[in-house]
Amino acid sequence: MDETFRILNAPLRAKLMSAEAAAALIPPGANVGMSGFTGSGYPKAVPLALAQRMNAAHEAGHPFKISVWTGASTAPELDGALAQVNGVEMRLPYQSDPTCRQRINAGQMEYIDIHLSHVAQFVWSGFLGHLDVAVVEVSGILEDGRLIPSSSIGNNKTWLDQADKIILEVNTWQSPDLQGMHDIYYGTQLPPHRKPIAVWGPHDRIGEPYFRCDPDKVIAVVHTHSPDRNSDYTPPDENSRSIAGHILEFFAHEVKRGRLPPNLLPLQSGVGNIVNAVMAGLNEGPFENLTAYTEVLQDGMLALIKSGKLKAASATAFSLSSAALAELNADLARYKERIVLRPQEISNHPELIRRLGVIVMNGMIEADLYGNVNSTHVMGSQIMNGIGGSGDFARNGYLSIFMTPSTAKNGQISCIVPMVSHVDHTEHDVQIVVTEQGLADLRGLSPKQRARLIIENCAHPTFRPALSDYFERARAGSPGKHTPHLLEEALSWHGRYLRTGAM
Ligand code: COA
Repeated sequence: MDETFRILNAPLRAKLMSAEAAAALIPPGANVGMSGFTGSGYPKAVPLALAQRMNAAHEAGHPFKISVWTGASTAPELDGALAQVNGVEMRLPYQSDPTCRQRINAGQMEYIDIHLSHVAQFVWSGFLGHLDVAVVEVSGILEDGRLIPSSSIGNNKTWLDQADKIILEVNTWQSPDLQGMHDIYYGTQLPPHRKPIAVWGPHDRIGEPYFRCDPDKVIAVVHTHSPDRNSDYTPPDENSRSIAGHILEFFAHEVKRGRLPPNLLPLQSGVGNIVNAVMAGLNEGPFENLTAYTEVLQDGMLALIKSGKLKAASATAFSLSSAALAELNADLARYKERIVLRPQEISNHPELIRRLGVIVMNGMIEADLYGNVNSTHVMGSQIMNGIGGSGDFARNGYLSIFMTPSTAKNGQISCIVPMVSHVDHTEHDVQIVVTEQGLADLRGLSPKQRARLIIENCAHPTFRPALSDYFERARAGSPGKHTPHLLEEALSWHGRYLRTGAM
């Protein structure tokens, strides 16, 4: 493969080198901003070479760790490889890699789980320290040195702006048709200089199709030819289909009552198998001319575009199974008309999510009787993935929906609990809770009204009597009775699971 046809800028072409040579330019202790968002557009060679170097250093008795900042989760060649060699000091803002998760939960890696819309402004403000190196995958370099983005945008604009040094991976595997799909907005400011962001609809373009890049900061250009790697989705099971059915019925009801337009409002859907199943449900449902203002485009959304039901989608990355990715790349020129990829500070921007009136749909680990939601921690202490963009969307959306099967681990865990063991989304940000049992619309309800509805509509029948019993005893016995709890008992379900393996 002759890579030069994608690297049209001669001075940058002169900086072509091997991944090993590029990785040698990253010093121990560096803060490194890497591209990548859910297995799309992450650097595929330099992190692997860096992991090898770290391994060699560790074997020789020398410590070698870096801090890794990304858009969101990445893939085994980045998070997996660096975590495997225990080479990550600090990770942010979202991960879903099993080795990374294990290192974090073993106390061997620090992790900051922050709202995805906050990352860029935290870096601009200097809250996270200085960014030393950016390692960014692009799909090409123009003659004038501007960069053609890859299959995700994430925080790349910020990494390229803020880092002292830049390493570019030019991945010729990425489709040349990506060119023109992106919308990179350079108008963001810090307070007090901020101006309104003029996105009035998901398909609006307000920026440029390319990244600007100071060529003097580029210390290496590496050629790769490697596919993106996302996890495949499991086909929708009975629970997912039931959850999707409840949500579609709810939408139809809201349209009938005039609270949603017939083509709904822009959709956001999070990560995971269940939300993907909801998208599949929408494809079989009655709604036409849908739009999406979301963070990732997953298989379900691609299918909606293909069927013509989704006419415009804005996101920051693709999050596609290998089959869906092959299909996208085979027909990218056509899909491109309907898709805009933006920096994550724009895809997840509270102002835009609120103005557009986004319908927000995310998975969760557990919800409590009052509608507080835990999206990130198992049994209070163990990180699963992270909050991702769910908080950006849930607080600011027109409707904020959280979904889960009513039980986990073969029915040993109730996902509706007296009190969540960790809070990501408070009762104030959660409007609708859905399980395969049913849907609880919490809007306009007081805490005690919410509790009754959640138990009745969402809890699994096995756990319903115990939840009702807890609630009634709390109502009778708690000192202030606005949000009744028995404090000594509120987390006893989690404690019992840890002791006995069943709630
Ligand atoms: N207690 C303990 N474990 C639980 C649980 C509970 N209440 N509920 C689910 N789990 C476990 C499952 O058993 C499963 O474990 P396994 O991987 O060992 O099989 C795992 O959590 C994932 O559950 P699953 O039902 O497959 O859900 P999912 O794929 O739909 O993912 C989240 C659910 C919450 C993990 C996922 O949606 C997430 O990370 N959300 C936070 C980020 C987010 O919302 N991003 C989108 C913003 S745009």
